Amino acid sequence: MKDQIFRQVIPEGYKFTFDESVAEVFDDMLHRSVPLYQEVNRMVVEISASFYQPQSVIYDLGCSTGAVLCSLSKTLTSSEPSLVGIDSSQAMISKASKLVSSLCPSAKIEFRCENILHTSVTDASVIIMNYTLQFIPLPLRQAFLDRLFEALRPGGILLLGEKVKASSKIIEELEVKFYEQFKKRNGYSEMEISQKRKALEEVLIPRSLEQNMDCLKQAGFAAVEVICKWYNFASFLAIKASEPNKI
Ligand SMILES: C[S@@+](CC[C@H](N)C(=O)[O-])C[C@H]1O[C@@H](n2cnc3c(N)ncnc32)[C@H](O)[C@@H]1O
Repeated sequence: MKDQIFRQVIPEGYKFTFDESVAEVFDDMLHRSVPLYQEVNRMVVEISASFYQPQSVIYDLGCSTGAVLCSLSKTLTSSEPSLVGIDSSQAMISKASKLVSSLCPSAKIEFRCENILHTSVTDASVIIMNYTLQFIPLPLRQAFLDRLFEALRPGGILLLGEKVKASSKIIEELEVKFYEQFKKRNGYSEMEISQKRKALEEVLIPRSLEQNMDCLKQAGFAAVEVICKWYNFASFLAIKASEPNKI
């Protein structure tokens, strides 16, 4: 279904939430709002398959409609991985369960409707977290990343995708301008773009590329690399050393 949520006038002060109406149009919304969305997901699947360790768990935190886990289940056919998708929106989890049973019926994916800040994450070789950390309150992010690092096996990875802020005002303005042009090319009107921007204020809080890298290094990751960057969007691969002090 086409995303038309911000076509009508939205009440002043409305804050964006991942409710039923968003879940209904979510796939169209992400394809038209996140640059390189499909390519990043393809990369996430191939990198996850490279680092997956037998009998470990692959988590997708903020899994929304479960598309990435569905692709992963088709890629990792021989080893029957344990795939877990977690999202705090019941609407998203219901949509994910329906999509998976129609698009990849043989996949064994456990979906949990839980807050990722409080959910149990253990024995992981891969943790995927695309465009979700940006919704976690700033003061909680470092401790949360520290916990994900602990949940990973040695040699395990965190794949993180985020909207990012430029470190200078002039470049930030340029990136926002080109991002809005990207959305216009994808069929969103000025009104839709500005209403959504307002609805996301104080809800989606991006940090700079460097702040994200620093947080990942501080959590303990031995290697942290930007694997994709498009103006104000970035994806990171963070690897936990397989032996202490070794990568
Ligand atoms: C932008 S979407 C993520 C998109 C998805 N990872 C993808 O790449 O298609 C953010 C998702 O994170 C979920 N979310 C936000 N905060 C959360 C939290 N504290 N715990 C669990 N899920 C959360 C939202 O419900 C939403 O489905």
